Amino acid sequence: MKIAVLCGGLSSERDVSISSGTGVAKALAARGHQVLLLDSFFGFAKPFDDPAEVFQRGELTLGGAAIGQDSPDLAAVRAMRADPDQAIGPNVLTLCRAADVTFLAMHGGDGENGRLQAVLDVHGVRYTGSGYLGSALAMHKGVSKALFLQAGIPTPAGRVLTRADKAEAPGFPCVVKPCSGGSSVATLIAHDAAEYAVALEAAWAVEEEVLVESFVRGRELTVGVMDGKAMPVIEIIPKSGFYDYKNKYQAGATVELCPAPIGDAATARAQELAERVTRALHIDVYCRVDLLWDTERDEMSVLEANTLPGMTPTSLIPQMAAAQGMDYGALCEKIIEVSEKKYENADR
Ligand SMILES: Nc1ncnc2c1ncn2[C@@H]1O[C@H](COP(=O)(O)OP(=O)(O)O)[C@@H](O)[C@H]1O
Ligand SMILES: [Mg+2]
Repeated sequence: MKIAVLCGGLSSERDVSISSGTGVAKALAARGHQVLLLDSFFGFAKPFDDPAEVFQRGELTLGGAAIGQDSPDLAAVRAMRADPDQAIGPNVLTLCRAADVTFLAMHGGDGENGRLQAVLDVHGVRYTGSGYLGSALAMHKGVSKALFLQAGIPTPAGRVLTRADKAEAPGFPCVVKPCSGGSSVATLIAHDAAEYAVALEAAWAVEEEVLVESFVRGRELTVGVMDGKAMPVIEIIPKSGFYDYKNKYQAGATVELCPAPIGDAATARAQELAERVTRALHIDVYCRVDLLWDTERDEMSVLEANTLPGMTPTSLIPQMAAAQGMDYGALCEKIIEVSEKKYENADR
Protein backbone atom coordinates (compact mmCIF):
# COMPACT_ATOMS: atom_id res chain seq x y z
CA MET A 1 0.00 0.00 0.00
CA LYS A 2 0.97 3.64 -0.41
CA ILE A 3 0.69 5.10 3.08
CA ALA A 4 1.13 8.72 4.16
CA VAL A 5 1.92 8.98 7.88
CA LEU A 6 0.89 12.38 9.19
CA CYS A 7 2.41 13.75 12.38
CA GLY A 8 3.70 16.88 14.10
CA GLY A 9 1.31 19.77 13.61
CA LEU A 10 0.88 22.65 16.01
CA SER A 11 -0.32 21.07 19.24
CA SER A 12 1.44 20.91 22.59
CA GLU A 13 1.90 17.20 21.83
CA ARG A 14 3.84 17.92 18.63
CA ASP A 15 7.05 16.20 19.78
CA VAL A 16 5.20 13.10 20.95
CA SER A 17 3.41 12.96 17.62
CA ILE A 18 6.66 13.11 15.63
CA SER A 19 7.92 10.27 17.73
CA SER A 20 4.73 8.25 17.07
CA GLY A 21 4.85 9.03 13.35
CA THR A 22 8.48 8.00 12.99
CA GLY A 23 7.80 4.68 14.74
CA VAL A 24 4.70 3.96 12.65
CA ALA A 25 6.39 4.94 9.36
CA LYS A 26 9.40 2.71 9.98
CA ALA A 27 7.26 -0.25 11.06
CA LEU A 28 4.98 0.00 8.03
CA ALA A 29 7.95 0.36 5.66
CA ALA A 30 9.52 -2.73 7.24
CA ARG A 31 6.32 -4.60 6.34
CA GLY A 32 6.78 -3.73 2.68
CA HIS A 33 4.60 -0.66 2.29
CA GLN A 34 5.57 2.51 0.40
CA VAL A 35 5.56 5.03 3.22
CA LEU A 36 5.93 8.79 3.33
CA LEU A 37 6.28 10.52 6.71
CA LEU A 38 4.88 14.05 6.66
CA ASP A 39 4.76 16.83 9.22
CA SER A 40 1.26 18.25 8.74
CA PHE A 41 2.48 21.79 9.50
CA PHE A 42 5.67 21.83 7.39
CA GLY A 43 4.34 19.60 4.63
CA PHE A 44 6.52 18.53 1.72
CA ALA A 45 8.34 21.46 0.15
CA LYS A 46 10.69 19.62 -2.23
CA PRO A 47 9.69 19.63 -5.90
CA PHE A 48 8.06 16.59 -7.50
CA ASP A 49 6.18 15.82 -10.72
CA ASP A 50 4.13 12.81 -9.78
CA PRO A 51 2.92 12.27 -6.17
CA ALA A 52 3.39 8.49 -6.57
CA GLU A 53 7.11 9.07 -7.09
CA VAL A 54 7.38 10.77 -3.67
CA PHE A 55 6.18 7.58 -1.97
CA GLN A 56 9.00 5.67 -3.66
CA ARG A 57 11.59 7.99 -2.09
CA GLY A 58 10.88 6.39 1.29
CA GLU A 59 11.19 9.49 3.50
CA LEU A 60 10.83 8.03 6.98
CA THR A 61 12.42 10.52 9.34
CA LEU A 62 11.89 14.11 10.40
CA GLY A 63 14.09 16.35 12.53
CA GLY A 64 13.25 16.98 16.19
CA ALA A 65 11.79 13.61 17.13
CA ALA A 66 13.13 13.69 20.69
CA ILE A 67 10.58 14.44 23.42
CA GLY A 68 11.87 17.16 25.77
CA GLN A 69 11.20 17.62 29.48
CA ASP A 70 8.37 20.03 28.67
CA SER A 71 5.93 20.53 25.83
CA PRO A 72 7.40 22.34 22.79
CA ASP A 73 7.55 26.10 22.16
CA LEU A 74 4.86 26.39 19.47
CA ALA A 75 5.48 30.09 18.78
CA ALA A 76 9.02 29.16 17.72
CA VAL A 77 7.66 26.39 15.47
CA ARG A 78 5.13 28.75 13.84
CA ALA A 79 7.85 31.33 13.20
CA MET A 80 9.67 28.80 11.03
CA ARG A 81 7.06 29.04 8.28
CA ALA A 82 6.19 32.15 6.23
CA ASP A 83 2.42 31.48 6.22
CA PRO A 84 1.77 29.91 9.65
CA ASP A 85 -1.97 30.68 9.54
CA GLN A 86 -2.41 27.89 7.06
CA ALA A 87 -2.25 24.97 9.47
CA ILE A 88 -1.82 22.35 6.75
CA GLY A 89 1.58 22.66 5.06
CA PRO A 90 2.46 22.54 1.35
CA ASN A 91 1.40 19.46 -0.63
CA VAL A 92 0.00 17.61 2.40
CA LEU A 93 -3.47 17.23 0.90
CA THR A 94 -2.12 16.34 -2.57
CA LEU A 95 0.13 13.64 -1.15
CA CYS A 96 -2.50 12.25 1.25
CA ARG A 97 -4.96 12.05 -1.64
CA ALA A 98 -2.39 10.10 -3.63
CA ALA A 99 -1.98 7.58 -0.80
CA ASP A 100 -4.21 4.54 -0.34
CA VAL A 101 -4.61 5.59 3.27
CA THR A 102 -3.27 8.29 5.60
CA PHE A 103 -2.16 7.06 9.01
CA LEU A 104 -2.86 9.79 11.56
CA ALA A 105 -0.05 9.87 14.11
CA MET A 106 -1.21 13.29 15.27
CA HIS A 107 -1.92 13.99 18.95
CA GLY A 108 -3.77 16.85 20.59
CA GLY A 109 -5.13 20.06 19.11
CA ASP A 110 -6.37 20.23 15.55
CA GLY A 111 -4.86 16.84 14.67
CA GLU A 112 -7.07 15.01 17.16
CA ASN A 113 -10.09 17.27 17.70
CA GLY A 114 -11.93 16.55 14.46
CA ARG A 115 -10.92 19.60 12.43
CA LEU A 116 -8.27 17.78 10.43
CA GLN A 117 -10.59 14.79 10.07
CA ALA A 118 -13.31 17.04 8.60
CA VAL A 119 -10.86 18.62 6.16
CA LEU A 120 -9.64 15.19 5.07
CA ASP A 121 -13.26 14.01 4.60
CA VAL A 122 -14.02 16.97 2.38
CA HIS A 123 -10.91 16.30 0.30
CA GLY A 124 -11.66 12.60 -0.11
CA VAL A 125 -8.65 11.44 1.93
CA ARG A 126 -9.07 8.09 3.72
CA TYR A 127 -7.49 8.16 7.16
CA THR A 128 -7.09 6.00 10.24
CA GLY A 129 -9.02 6.37 13.49
CA SER A 130 -12.15 8.25 14.45
CA GLY A 131 -14.08 10.56 12.17
CA TYR A 132 -14.67 14.21 12.99
CA LEU A 133 -17.59 13.65 15.38
CA GLY A 134 -16.01 11.14 17.76
CA SER A 135 -12.77 13.11 17.64
CA ALA A 136 -14.49 16.35 18.64
CA LEU A 137 -16.63 14.81 21.39
CA ALA A 138 -13.66 13.01 22.95
CA MET A 139 -11.37 16.02 22.74
CA HIS A 140 -13.55 18.29 24.86
CA LYS A 141 -13.41 16.91 28.40
CA GLY A 142 -16.49 18.91 29.47
CA VAL A 143 -18.62 17.62 26.59
CA SER A 144 -17.33 14.08 27.16
CA LYS A 145 -18.30 14.29 30.82
CA ALA A 146 -21.85 15.37 29.94
CA LEU A 147 -22.15 12.39 27.60
CA PHE A 148 -20.70 10.02 30.22
CA LEU A 149 -23.31 11.19 32.71
CA GLN A 150 -26.07 10.78 30.13
CA ALA A 151 -24.91 7.23 29.44
CA GLY A 152 -24.60 6.37 33.15
CA ILE A 153 -20.81 6.06 32.92
CA PRO A 154 -19.18 7.01 36.25
CA THR A 155 -16.89 10.06 36.03
CA PRO A 156 -15.53 12.47 38.69
CA ALA A 157 -17.82 15.40 39.50
CA GLY A 158 -16.70 18.41 37.51
CA ARG A 159 -17.60 21.73 36.05
CA VAL A 160 -16.45 23.79 33.07
CA LEU A 161 -15.36 27.35 33.89
CA THR A 162 -14.42 30.32 31.73
CA ARG A 163 -12.96 33.57 33.06
CA ALA A 164 -16.46 35.02 32.89
CA ASP A 165 -17.79 32.48 35.38
CA LYS A 166 -17.67 32.93 39.12
CA ALA A 167 -14.85 30.64 40.11
CA GLU A 168 -16.03 29.68 43.60
CA ALA A 169 -13.59 27.36 45.25
CA PRO A 170 -14.68 23.72 44.97
CA GLY A 171 -13.78 21.08 47.56
CA PHE A 172 -10.07 20.37 47.83
CA PRO A 173 -8.07 18.72 46.48
CA CYS A 174 -9.35 19.31 42.96
CA VAL A 175 -7.86 18.93 39.50
CA VAL A 176 -7.79 21.84 37.05
CA LYS A 177 -7.21 21.13 33.37
CA PRO A 178 -7.84 22.77 29.99
CA CYS A 179 -10.96 21.20 28.43
CA SER A 180 -9.18 20.28 25.21
CA GLY A 181 -5.68 19.62 26.50
CA GLY A 182 -3.67 16.44 26.47
CA SER A 183 -0.48 14.92 27.88
CA SER A 184 -1.38 16.66 31.19
CA VAL A 185 -0.17 20.00 29.79
CA ALA A 186 -1.35 22.83 32.12
CA THR A 187 -3.04 20.26 34.39
CA LEU A 188 -2.54 20.90 38.12
CA ILE A 189 -3.82 19.50 41.39
CA ALA A 190 -4.91 22.25 43.81
CA HIS A 191 -4.97 21.62 47.58
CA ASP A 192 -6.13 25.07 48.70
CA ALA A 193 -7.55 28.34 47.40
CA ALA A 194 -4.13 29.81 46.59
CA GLU A 195 -3.08 26.77 44.52
CA TYR A 196 -6.52 26.80 42.89
CA ALA A 197 -6.08 30.40 41.71
CA VAL A 198 -2.65 29.58 40.25
CA ALA A 199 -4.00 26.43 38.56
CA LEU A 200 -6.93 28.28 36.97
CA GLU A 201 -4.59 30.94 35.55
CA ALA A 202 -2.26 28.28 34.17
CA ALA A 203 -5.14 26.46 32.44
CA TRP A 204 -6.82 29.64 31.16
CA ALA A 205 -3.48 30.69 29.69
CA VAL A 206 -3.85 27.85 27.19
CA GLU A 207 -7.63 27.62 26.80
CA GLU A 208 -10.74 29.62 27.55
CA GLU A 209 -12.67 26.64 28.88
CA VAL A 210 -11.24 24.85 31.90
CA LEU A 211 -12.50 21.74 33.66
CA VAL A 212 -12.41 21.69 37.46
CA GLU A 213 -12.85 18.15 38.71
CA SER A 214 -12.87 16.50 42.11
CA PHE A 215 -9.63 14.71 42.83
CA VAL A 216 -9.96 10.92 42.91
CA ARG A 217 -7.42 9.09 45.05
CA GLY A 218 -6.90 5.69 43.57
CA ARG A 219 -5.11 3.46 41.12
CA GLU A 220 -4.69 4.73 37.59
CA LEU A 221 -5.75 2.45 34.75
CA THR A 222 -5.90 2.77 30.99
CA VAL A 223 -7.65 0.50 28.50
CA GLY A 224 -7.37 0.36 24.74
CA VAL A 225 -10.37 -0.42 22.58
CA MET A 226 -9.88 -1.79 19.08
CA ASP A 227 -12.82 -2.32 16.74
CA GLY A 228 -15.26 -2.09 19.67
CA LYS A 229 -13.43 -4.68 21.83
CA ALA A 230 -11.36 -3.81 24.89
CA MET A 231 -7.65 -4.63 24.90
CA PRO A 232 -5.70 -5.65 28.05
CA VAL A 233 -5.72 -3.12 30.92
CA ILE A 234 -2.55 -1.28 31.97
CA GLU A 235 -1.92 0.06 35.47
CA ILE A 236 0.13 3.25 35.57
CA ILE A 237 2.27 4.00 38.62
CA PRO A 238 4.33 7.22 38.47
CA LYS A 239 7.40 6.93 40.75
CA SER A 240 6.61 10.39 42.15
CA GLY A 241 3.77 12.86 41.79
CA PHE A 242 0.93 12.28 39.32
CA TYR A 243 0.94 11.26 35.64
CA ASP A 244 2.10 14.63 34.30
CA TYR A 245 4.04 15.45 31.10
CA LYS A 246 7.44 14.45 32.53
CA ASN A 247 6.13 11.22 34.02
CA LYS A 248 4.45 10.37 30.70
CA TYR A 249 7.51 10.75 28.47
CA GLN A 250 10.75 10.53 30.45
CA ALA A 251 12.12 6.98 30.39
CA GLY A 252 11.84 5.20 33.73
CA ALA A 253 9.67 7.88 35.41
CA THR A 254 6.58 5.67 35.50
CA VAL A 255 5.97 1.96 35.93
CA GLU A 256 3.42 0.58 33.47
CA LEU A 257 2.10 -2.86 34.30
CA CYS A 258 0.49 -4.83 31.50
CA PRO A 259 -1.76 -6.65 32.11
CA ALA A 260 -2.71 -4.66 35.22
CA PRO A 261 -2.47 -6.81 38.41
CA ILE A 262 -6.00 -5.92 39.52
CA GLY A 263 -7.82 -9.24 39.32
CA ASP A 264 -10.39 -10.52 36.86
CA ALA A 265 -13.40 -8.64 38.20
CA ALA A 266 -11.76 -5.19 38.13
CA THR A 267 -10.25 -5.94 34.72
CA ALA A 268 -13.65 -6.86 33.32
CA ARG A 269 -15.20 -3.73 34.84
CA ALA A 270 -12.55 -1.43 33.36
CA GLN A 271 -12.88 -3.09 29.97
CA GLU A 272 -16.66 -2.87 29.99
CA LEU A 273 -16.51 0.84 30.88
CA ALA A 274 -14.00 1.50 28.09
CA GLU A 275 -16.22 -0.17 25.51
CA ARG A 276 -19.22 1.86 26.71
CA VAL A 277 -17.16 5.05 26.46
CA THR A 278 -16.39 4.44 22.79
CA ARG A 279 -20.09 4.06 22.07
CA ALA A 280 -21.13 7.11 24.12
CA LEU A 281 -18.59 9.31 22.31
CA HIS A 282 -19.12 7.90 18.78
CA ILE A 283 -15.49 6.81 18.57
CA ASP A 284 -14.45 4.72 15.55
CA VAL A 285 -11.67 2.18 15.06
CA TYR A 286 -9.56 2.50 18.24
CA CYS A 287 -8.92 4.65 21.26
CA ARG A 288 -7.51 4.56 24.79
CA VAL A 289 -9.69 5.27 27.80
CA ASP A 290 -8.15 6.63 31.03
CA LEU A 291 -9.74 5.60 34.35
CA LEU A 292 -9.18 5.92 38.07
CA TRP A 293 -10.07 3.18 40.53
CA ASP A 294 -10.77 4.33 44.09
CA THR A 295 -10.08 1.02 45.79
CA GLU A 296 -11.26 2.19 49.22
CA ARG A 297 -14.75 2.82 47.88
CA ASP A 298 -14.32 0.28 45.10
CA GLU A 299 -15.47 2.85 42.56
CA MET A 300 -14.11 3.20 39.04
CA SER A 301 -14.51 6.43 37.14
CA VAL A 302 -13.63 7.51 33.62
CA LEU A 303 -11.46 10.57 33.02
CA GLU A 304 -11.32 10.74 29.25
CA ALA A 305 -10.89 8.95 25.95
CA ASN A 306 -7.95 9.54 23.59
CA THR A 307 -8.91 9.05 19.95
CA LEU A 308 -5.32 9.20 18.67
CA PRO A 309 -3.37 7.70 21.57
CA GLY A 310 0.43 7.58 21.65
CA MET A 311 1.89 5.22 19.07
CA THR A 312 5.62 5.16 19.73
CA PRO A 313 6.86 1.54 19.87
CA THR A 314 6.80 1.70 23.70
CA SER A 315 3.47 3.56 24.05
CA LEU A 316 0.56 2.09 25.99
CA ILE A 317 -1.53 0.78 23.07
CA PRO A 318 1.48 -1.06 21.55
CA GLN A 319 2.12 -2.62 24.99
CA MET A 320 -1.51 -3.80 25.16
CA ALA A 321 -1.26 -5.23 21.64
CA ALA A 322 1.97 -7.04 22.59
CA ALA A 323 0.14 -8.63 25.53
CA GLN A 324 -2.35 -9.96 22.97
CA GLY A 325 0.49 -11.37 20.86
CA MET A 326 0.36 -8.60 18.24
CA ASP A 327 3.67 -6.92 17.46
CA TYR A 328 4.00 -3.21 16.70
CA GLY A 329 4.03 -3.52 12.90
CA ALA A 330 1.01 -5.83 12.97
CA LEU A 331 -0.79 -3.32 15.22
CA CYS A 332 -0.15 -0.49 12.72
CA GLU A 333 -1.59 -2.67 9.94
CA LYS A 334 -4.55 -3.67 12.13
CA ILE A 335 -5.42 0.01 12.68
CA ILE A 336 -5.40 0.52 8.89
CA GLU A 337 -7.50 -2.59 8.31
CA VAL A 338 -10.14 -1.60 10.90
CA SER A 339 -10.17 1.97 9.57
CA GLU A 340 -11.14 0.71 6.10
CA LYS A 341 -14.50 -0.31 7.58
CA LYS A 342 -15.40 3.36 8.04
CA TYR A 343 -15.48 3.71 4.28
CA GLU A 344 -17.71 0.74 3.63
CA ASN A 345 -20.74 3.01 4.06
CA ALA A 346 -20.98 4.88 0.79
CA ASP A 347 -22.55 7.96 2.39
CA ARG A 348 -19.48 8.97 4.41
N1 LIG B 1 -10.05 13.87 38.79
C1 LIG B 1 -8.79 13.45 38.89
N2 LIG B 1 -8.35 12.88 40.06
C2 LIG B 1 -7.07 12.46 40.18
N3 LIG B 1 -6.14 12.57 39.19
C3 LIG B 1 -6.52 13.12 38.02
C4 LIG B 1 -7.85 13.58 37.81
N4 LIG B 1 -7.93 14.10 36.57
C5 LIG B 1 -6.70 13.95 36.03
N5 LIG B 1 -5.84 13.37 36.88
C6 LIG B 1 -4.42 13.06 36.61
O1 LIG B 1 -3.99 13.85 35.52
C7 LIG B 1 -3.67 13.02 34.39
C8 LIG B 1 -4.14 13.68 33.10
O2 LIG B 1 -5.55 13.84 33.12
P1 LIG B 1 -6.47 13.41 31.91
O3 LIG B 1 -7.86 13.79 32.27
O4 LIG B 1 -6.24 11.98 31.54
O5 LIG B 1 -6.01 14.39 30.75
P2 LIG B 1 -4.87 14.29 29.59
O6 LIG B 1 -4.26 12.93 29.68
O7 LIG B 1 -5.65 14.52 28.34
O8 LIG B 1 -3.93 15.40 29.87
C9 LIG B 1 -4.34 11.70 34.69
O9 LIG B 1 -3.67 10.64 34.01
C10 LIG B 1 -4.25 11.61 36.20
O10 LIG B 1 -2.95 11.21 36.61
MG1 LIG C 1 -5.20 11.13 29.90
